[in-house]
Amino acid sequence: MKDNKNISNPEIVLQIMDLHKSFGDNHVLNGFNMKLYKGENLVIMGKSGSGKSVMIKCLVGLMQADSGLISVMGKDITTLTQEALDILRADIGFLFQGSALYDSMTVRENLEFPLRRHSKKKHKDSNTEALVLEALTNVGLAHAIDLMPSELSGGMKRRVALARTLILQPKIILYDEPTSGLDPITAKEIIILMQDVQKKYNTSSLIITHDVDCARVISDRMLLLIDGIDYAVGTYTALSTSEDPKIKAFFKH
Ligand SMILES: Nc1ncnc2c1ncn2[C@@H]1O[C@H](COP(=O)(O)OP(=O)(O)O)[C@@H](O)[C@H]1O
Ligand SMILES: [Mg+2]
Repeated sequence: MKDNKNISNPEIVLQIMDLHKSFGDNHVLNGFNMKLYKGENLVIMGKSGSGKSVMIKCLVGLMQADSGLISVMGKDITTLTQEALDILRADIGFLFQGSALYDSMTVRENLEFPLRRHSKKKHKDSNTEALVLEALTNVGLAHAIDLMPSELSGGMKRRVALARTLILQPKIILYDEPTSGLDPITAKEIIILMQDVQKKYNTSSLIITHDVDCARVISDRMLLLIDGIDYAVGTYTALSTSEDPKIKAFFKH
């Protein structure tokens, strides 16, 4: 949140230092750095194919980086045991590109799924039904609890996916293109929801997007991923008024 952040001594919840990742001759990340502070919305923009998804996959361990340091809440993830890593992962919500719901499960079952997976660590005594309802209510979809994904619109699917991420009450949420493929009005609704969630739970969010309007509305800070590095970091206002042609290219409509 913009107004109550402790700017003098902000806590870093996620940090990437000097990350490298290549696929053969394709050097996607070439010494990428990033810091995410507690309670902030950091927007990462980059051209299609610039390595945004690769970076986020390295961050959550879906992909192995070639070199570099990744720390989550002060812990270097490469030094953690599998068990410690799993516990840490439960604090990180990840909203994939697209909604990635299980098509053969109802909305309710889709939301119960992460709860079952993490039941040993969290929510041992909680009432599953109440948690599912609360998460759906947060995204305005309590009435859709028994529908199948095929019965939902694109925007509703995205909301259910967000509810499924929220149900574990993550401290950090990573969004990969949360508004891509949605019409502008639905995209705006999703952005408002993301802001509501951030305010309600004081989460820290990393938001990958190429939607300039989304970036303007939601970002506390922005980072431009260009040529495999953190080419520019700053507020929307600072970056959108830059004279650097590579930066300017992102803000042309
Ligand atoms: N598993 C993979 N194997 C080989 N190349 C990959 C793989 N994943 C991504 N890439 C390549 O890495 C580059 C960055 O991809 P990606 O991170 O998905 O881009 P974006 O910024 O659009 O999310 C692209 O050139 C892509 O082809
Ligand atoms: Mg991507």
